[in-house]
Amino acid sequence: MAEPASSAPHIKVEKLVRSFDGRKVLDGVSFEVPRGKTLVILGGSGCGKSTLLRHIIGSLKPDEGRIWLMGEEITSMREEKFAEVRKKFGMLFQGSALLNSMSVGENVALPLEEHTSLSPDIIEIMVKMKTSMVGLTGFENLMPSQISGGMKKRVALARAIAMDPEILFCDEPTAGLDPVMTAVVDVLINDLCKKLGMTAVVVTHDMASVYRIADQIVMLHKGKVVFQGSSAEIQASEDPIVKQFIKGEADGPISFKQSGDDYLKTLLG
Ligand SMILES: Nc1ncnc2c1ncn2[C@@H]1O[C@H](COP(=O)(O)OP(=O)(O)OP(=O)(O)O)[C@@H](O)[C@H]1O
Ligand SMILES: [Mg+2]
Repeated sequence: MAEPASSAPHIKVEKLVRSFDGRKVLDGVSFEVPRGKTLVILGGSGCGKSTLLRHIIGSLKPDEGRIWLMGEEITSMREEKFAEVRKKFGMLFQGSALLNSMSVGENVALPLEEHTSLSPDIIEIMVKMKTSMVGLTGFENLMPSQISGGMKKRVALARAIAMDPEILFCDEPTAGLDPVMTAVVDVLINDLCKKLGMTAVVVTHDMASVYRIADQIVMLHKGKVVFQGSSAEIQASEDPIVKQFIKGEADGPISFKQSGDDYLKTLLG
């Protein structure tokens, strides 16, 4: 079911539900992202952020609920039609997911080789443009094992924007980076979104990143949206779950335990 492109949000998620082995990981998640805005998805480890992204990019199907990308409903879309939608968004995976047997340039060229019939010299020019946009001109021939973690994230970013996508998805683009490199990658994401007019969805744990890049924030807890709003609104929130998360405190309603089982019962069987 398509919505009129002009009035439709660029991304819409409606009442998404997904369980694994009888355990609900997403429990009625809904939100919208307007065109050109950056949404940050926040939440504790294991709360379902990557799972949510995997549904939005169509690699997982929900048990219930619907997703619209660029005005088109994707959960019931045929494979061939989805392949066309797929060309219009880029994804930076958690941990970069570069192919170690390929050079930096070959990694960036991959989506262009897979999804276009451009000639090798045009692809080479496009790869040079994208690597220069992430500040890595001259590094095209190095292998992933020869570059730092921060550089790997930037290569993954160059690969994600190789096809000039309308939407950019990033799963923890700054995890494992020092505060300076985190800021560099955040500023790069902001700049690229502005220059290329992209809508972005970024998963992060890092509150400094959130305040730098978010137009809107969605926070997940136990599969539900517990907060939706701006950076100013999250800082003013009185919700104990939100307060614990943004202050990074060990004590509070967010538990490190992944299961709801009583600890002693688990030990004693
Ligand atoms: N394919 C799967 N099969 C079974 N369980 C899964 C599958 N994918 C995810 N899960 C479970 O769903 C839960 C959420 O996982 P997810 O990777 O989405 O968390 P996350 O919020 O991205 O965590 P992190 O911040 O550590 O990356 C976890 O308990 C995980 O074990
Ligand atoms: Mg994750």
